[in-house]
Amino acid sequence: MADHRLGFESFEEEPSPTTLDVEGELPDWLTGTLLRNGPGLFDVGGEAVTHWFDGLALLRRFRFDDGIEYSSRFLRSEAYLAAARGELAFREFGTNPSRSLLDRVREITGETMTDNASVTVRHRDGEFRAVTETSRELAFDPEELTTLGERRDAIDATGTLAHDHYDPLQEERVGLGIDFGSRSGYLVYRDPDDGPTEEIARIGADEPAYMHSFALTDHYVVLTEHPFTVPPTRLLGDRPFIENFRWYPERETRFLVVDRRTGETVAAPSVPPFFTFHHVDAYERASQLVLDLVAFEDHSFVESLALANLRSRSPAIPGGELRRYRIDLDAETASDETLFSGPIEFPTIHYAEANTHPYRYCYGVGKEPGSFNDRLHKVDVEHATTETWDEEGLHPGEALFVPDPGGEEEDDGVLLSVALDVEEERSCVLVLDAAGFEEVARAYLPDALPFDFHGAFYPDGERPIPSMS
Ligand SMILES: [Fe+2]
Repeated sequence: MADHRLGFESFEEEPSPTTLDVEGELPDWLTGTLLRNGPGLFDVGGEAVTHWFDGLALLRRFRFDDGIEYSSRFLRSEAYLAAARGELAFREFGTNPSRSLLDRVREITGETMTDNASVTVRHRDGEFRAVTETSRELAFDPEELTTLGERRDAIDATGTLAHDHYDPLQEERVGLGIDFGSRSGYLVYRDPDDGPTEEIARIGADEPAYMHSFALTDHYVVLTEHPFTVPPTRLLGDRPFIENFRWYPERETRFLVVDRRTGETVAAPSVPPFFTFHHVDAYERASQLVLDLVAFEDHSFVESLALANLRSRSPAIPGGELRRYRIDLDAETASDETLFSGPIEFPTIHYAEANTHPYRYCYGVGKEPGSFNDRLHKVDVEHATTETWDEEGLHPGEALFVPDPGGEEEDDGVLLSVALDVEEERSCVLVLDAAGFEEVARAYLPDALPFDFHGAFYPDGERPIPSMS
């Protein structure tokens, strides 16, 4: 029998739209498109890329409308076109081609960063875009999955995070850039629905931290600056991007609380060091901020996602826990509480309603030690209880919550996850009723797809609000 390693094999096909056989019952209100992104091609010129994040972006589309139609297509990035010729064109997250010093200098200014936009998708300025952690976004057609062209952020930073936030109440997207140039540090910016992108704050940092997401509340942006940092000049060396960063266990993790209107850093409490990829939610409670995230002991999680480890029978991957920090803005202190000891990753919530507000349910992907993601969790953070859903041989990915438009409770809706069934040697779309946390439908694809990262569901006929950001 195959195992999880099938999800780390290169997938080289581009199937045209196929109607899938659905087992079970799809809710009749579920109409719209699930767009997902993640690596699809790992082997370039006869050699595998080094890190999971460096596989070439494969867009996946699942159209829900009285059934499920599936198609997938590689993003036609410069990185992909070069890879199709057997060449690695850019310095990637964890993989490096040989580069001249001039190229490396141009990289720091953001000029020659990769356009392998494989992390997630975003709806912006009336179009869909594939995004990664550089400023190079690629627009694509959400039906044909054809690549429409590059769009650059009007932001003066080396790169911008793929995870941003959309605030439907204040009608603005908030993003974070990291600058490794002469003004190294963090750039918080807003992208209002009805105006041009503007800077909120520029926070200098001699050694910027690697950041993958941040948190938003009604009044604040919160950056989690863990001690996994780089002096920018080190990026001029010839190592892959992330290998220039070092973990400093003797330093602390610092929360930078930035006022969304004034750009002022109003508090910067420190706590014992931890590493995070994904924030879950944050909100205000009088002079306190509540901030939930998936915390790891240190940066070793990043290293564990090297392809050689993931392609081993029993990959060693540290587990993250769902942790709550309470930040006292007056005292500039923070205390923590474990909400679920995990392992958990790819956290999602009822984003459209709950982001920046108190929430009750967090969904996530879990695993047994020594295995790859093999279960889904639903954590009730109010009662600190967790339900688990799993099936032998099934490796589910991120579970996106899609609300039932007629629902009243926070968990009235479904969870959509693309899973690899190693017995069938095919992937399937799982549809779980979120309230009962049980499967209501699944549909098998013709093929086994590589594991994906993130995506979003866009209901028909509405202004797209991401199902997670
Ligand atoms: Fe992510």
